[in-house]
Amino acid sequence: MTKQNPQEIFTKPILQWWSEHGRKDLPWQKNKTPYRTWVSEIMLQQTQVKTVIPYFTKFISSFPEINDLANAKQSEVMSHWSGLGYYSRARNLHKAAVIIKDDYGGIFPRNYDEINALPGIGPSTAGAILSLNNIEPRAIMDGNVKRVLSRHFFIEGDLTKADSLRRIWKLSESCTPDNEYDVYTQAIMDLGATVCLPKKYQCDQCPVVKSCVARKEGKVDLIPQKKAKKQKRKIEYNFLVIRSEDRFLLEQRDAKGIWPGLWSFPALETDEKVESWIKSNTGINKFNCQSDLDSFTHSLSHIDIQINPVIIDISDTKVQRLKKNMAFIKAQKMNSIATSKAVKKIIDRL
Ligand code: ADE
Repeated sequence: MTKQNPQEIFTKPILQWWSEHGRKDLPWQKNKTPYRTWVSEIMLQQTQVKTVIPYFTKFISSFPEINDLANAKQSEVMSHWSGLGYYSRARNLHKAAVIIKDDYGGIFPRNYDEINALPGIGPSTAGAILSLNNIEPRAIMDGNVKRVLSRHFFIEGDLTKADSLRRIWKLSESCTPDNEYDVYTQAIMDLGATVCLPKKYQCDQCPVVKSCVARKEGKVDLIPQKKAKKQKRKIEYNFLVIRSEDRFLLEQRDAKGIWPGLWSFPALETDEKVESWIKSNTGINKFNCQSDLDSFTHSLSHIDIQINPVIIDISDTKVQRLKKNMAFIKAQKMNSIATSKAVKKIIDRL
C-alpha cells in the first residue's frame, strides 16, 4: 500500500470543513496580533472558551498593548485573573510582558526560540502564536490537537512518554500546511473542541472520518490513552467568614503554598481555635458564630480542599487591630482584587 499524504487525506478536508463549520467570531480572532493571541492562548489553557471570553475582553480593554501590561502592578494583573484559576499563568504573563518591554522594545518577538523562552510559554503556545498570526507555519500540540491526531493516525501509547510524544509532534508538523496555516491551526483546534470530543465524539460530522484509523478499529473511546489519575491530597480548612455590616475580612495569603498571593477568607487548620484566632487578629472577644452554609469540596489540580465556612458577625463590635495583610472589603468590591474561586463560591451562597 502506498503511504498516504497527510496533507491530502487530513489537512485539506479539515481546511474545507472550517470554512463552513469553524469558529470565526471569538474575540481573539478580531484584530489579531501576537500579543492578543498570546493572552488568549494562555487563558484558554485548562479553561473553556465560554469562561475565557469575558476575562479576555476585560483584560484587553485594561491592557490594550504589551507595555500597558508590563507597566501594570502585579496585583492589578492578578485581579483580572481572579476566579480563572492556575494563577501562575497571570504571574508569568506579567513577567514576560516586562521582558518584552525591556529586551524587545515592547514589540512581541517573531522568532520561535525567543518566544518559546518567555516565562509561561512552551512549544505549542509559541507555535500557535506564530501560526495563527500567519508569521510562520508551526505545529501545535494542545489537548484537542493531541486527541484528533492520535485518533486519526492511531497512536495507541501513553502520550506522555517521550517516543509517542515525538511521533505525534512529527505528525502535527507533517499536517501543518505551508499556506493557510493560520486557518489550519484554528481549524484543528475547532475540530477537537466541537466534533472530535473526548466522550461525545460526533464522527458523523467529521471531515476526516473516512481515513480515521481509530474509528475503523472501533477504538475511538480508547484513544488517546487515559492518564492514570493520581490520588489527590486531601486537606480541610475552616474558612472564617467574618462579617462587619456589608464588609468581609479577607487576608492576603503568603507567596508560597495554596492560593499564593491571593486574598482569601482566613483559612484555619481544623485543630486551630476559632476564638483565639479572632481575638489575636482583631482584638474582639465577643461575637456570634453561626454555620448556616454547608461544607463543600474545592478541587485544585493537585489537592482537594474541604471547606467549612464559619460565619461570624461582628457588626456590633469595633475591630481594634488588623494585621497588615488583612482588610475588610465589600462583597461588590471583591471583583477588583485577586480572590480565589473558593471565596466567590461562598459569597454567591450567602
Ligand atoms: N483553545 C486554544 N486555542 C484556541 C483558539 N484559538 N480558539 C478556540 N479554542 C482554543
